[in-house]
Amino acid sequence: MSKRITVKLSAMPKLPKINFTPCSYKGPSLEAIGTIRQNNVNPIMKPLYKKPLLLHQGYMQWLFDNDGKRYLDMFGGICTVSVGHCHPKVTDAAFNQWNKLVHTSSLFQHPKLYEYSQKLADKMPGDLKVVYLLNSGSEANDLAILLARLYTGNNEILSLKNCYHGMSYQTMGLTSLANYKYKVVPPPAIHNVMNPDVFRGIWGGSNCRDSLAQTSRHCSCREKECEACDNYIRMLKSEFQSTVGPGKLAGFFAESIQGVGGAVQFPRNYIKEAYKIVKENNGLFISDEVQTGIGRTGDHFWGFESHGILPDIVTMAKGIGNGFPMSAVVTTKEIATTLTTGSHINTFGGNPIASAVGLAVLDIIEEEQLQENSKEVGSFLITELDKMRKRFPNIGDVRGKGLMIGVEMVENDGKMTPMSPTNFDDLLDKCREMGLILGVGGYNRNVIRLKPPMCITKEDASFALEVIEKALKSQL
Ligand SMILES: Cc1ncc(COP(=O)(O)O)c(C=O)c1O
Repeated sequence: MSKRITVKLSAMPKLPKINFTPCSYKGPSLEAIGTIRQNNVNPIMKPLYKKPLLLHQGYMQWLFDNDGKRYLDMFGGICTVSVGHCHPKVTDAAFNQWNKLVHTSSLFQHPKLYEYSQKLADKMPGDLKVVYLLNSGSEANDLAILLARLYTGNNEILSLKNCYHGMSYQTMGLTSLANYKYKVVPPPAIHNVMNPDVFRGIWGGSNCRDSLAQTSRHCSCREKECEACDNYIRMLKSEFQSTVGPGKLAGFFAESIQGVGGAVQFPRNYIKEAYKIVKENNGLFISDEVQTGIGRTGDHFWGFESHGILPDIVTMAKGIGNGFPMSAVVTTKEIATTLTTGSHINTFGGNPIASAVGLAVLDIIEEEQLQENSKEVGSFLITELDKMRKRFPNIGDVRGKGLMIGVEMVENDGKMTPMSPTNFDDLLDKCREMGLILGVGGYNRNVIRLKPPMCITKEDASFALEVIEKALKSQL
């Protein structure tokens, strides 16, 4: 059990200086918001902190609460604010479009949808050149299920345990995390297969991951060998004997690094080998790049590139809109054309404002070299957090690539028992008190997720590290 020490204000790490003054908050009080929440908002919308945070303004990597207190946002609105809160170029693009045309529907043509689709297609490798714009990640994955079934003529869909692909009825079937499951009949022909998790899973070793940080597990694999990968692939193959039936696959879904599941990375060659099995069984490979896309992982623009595969369908959302609700499904002409065997419409998909925002986001990533920044600042954070792991027994694992990072918290019992909710929440509260917003994830809800706007600096990262270290010290 941790000691509950209130962090002394005088001892708090200093937030980096910024040249921005937020406006003062003039909305309903925190108490009034609480009453509205109780009476008029679906109770599933629970605030993260016991003492809820009321945020009213954002600027780049910073957020401001109703009292004017500033926070470094290391979660980016669940990995969604990619280029910075209210980035001036995104704001200008949205308002300029707002002044001209807000909505037409896809029955008519407006230039922004076409400009954006082309720019996005230019960012994709191979024949992945046909774009369908939608509004949310769940919608994009729903459409990918449909495309895979139409194209292959098969029904069976596979996804990995511990993955998150959305909350529509069908994507709830893809998503394989117990707390996102309801007692309702699950959607048919969607199966969740063993997750190749090299930290918590049955197999894992000391050099499985494409990361600067490895697990504390040991293995005797030589260079370029990975017994864990071989074993997990064996389990995937067995699914075709027991569940799917050989040659009967429609599609296999995978995040390039699991997001909500706690930044879980697979053994290096797993996705490449899984891809081969998918092809042998007539299926399509669908990469969900909702969190790992547009440069966040640093080495590549798309997470799947670091696995050395070319998917058949790529889905994306969140960061492509920097907070504006939008998503996309990108695939080949051949696969996309299967949709024309019926009628399909999406009222808001490719809306002029969404398209203008999407264009601005892609421009900013190039102009401000945010992929390079993700690599540089992310590598610094991962390396320093991994050093911290060796100093603090409560850190069980550090993993990730670029600015897609997970820190799995455990009890100090030598058994890697997931940190209790009380201790974990206490840690988050202390960080919040010191001006740091962290994300939460993992099926045990014990993983700190660091997925900040990609514009954060090394100075910001150092501040975050200082805060986390201070909070951890108070739990020793
Ligand atoms: C990897 C991934 N796919 C899909 C989704 C679903 O996106 P949305 O909430 O926009 O429907 C999410 C959301 O967290 C996600 O992380």
